Amino acid sequence: MDLKSMIREIPDFPKEGIGFKDITTLLQDGKGFKEAIKRMADYCRDKNIDIVVGPEARGFLIGAPLAYELGAGFVPVRKPGKLPGETVEITYELEYGTDSLQIHKDAIKPGQRVLVADDLLATGGTVKATVDLVKELGGEVVAIGFLIELTFLNGREKLEGNEIFSLIEY
Ligand code: PRP
Repeated sequence: MDLKSMIREIPDFPKEGIGFKDITTLLQDGKGFKEAIKRMADYCRDKNIDIVVGPEARGFLIGAPLAYELGAGFVPVRKPGKLPGETVEITYELEYGTDSLQIHKDAIKPGQRVLVADDLLATGGTVKATVDLVKELGGEVVAIGFLIELTFLNGREKLEGNEIFSLIEY
């Protein structure tokens, strides 16, 4: 199945010059969605994953079904003020300014085997922050998986030392 052909490219979104990779056209295709999750799961079925962690919001769309497919738990990483329990927070650099993400303090137990999953690897900032939160709680990041990787942005450099996989490259 050609998953790449199910991703729609929207020119000049959200800013002029950016070709937005729209995954909604893949998600709305039942067979395509299932195949994408199955292929991501195939990368890590033998890795004994306890927890899949996904960052808000599109990371939920990939991370939760992937966790279900692997028989693992799912833990959300959210923008500040959304999680009701005690949290740990990280602030990271954007091109202009900073952003913050939070995780529940008790969401991961020390030594648990974690897969970090998101829809897209661009600069790597979001997932690097997510990885750092997992490590702060004592989780072991076993792998990082993406549906899409924008290889020309070299996001992998920011995630050096981790096992990384992606299904679709641009
Ligand atoms: C997008 C995407 C990734 C991130 C990738 O999320 O879903 O999480 O950007 O970019 P990076 O590698 O440069 O960090 P966005 O911040 O647009 O939030 P959303 O998922 O809530 O739409």
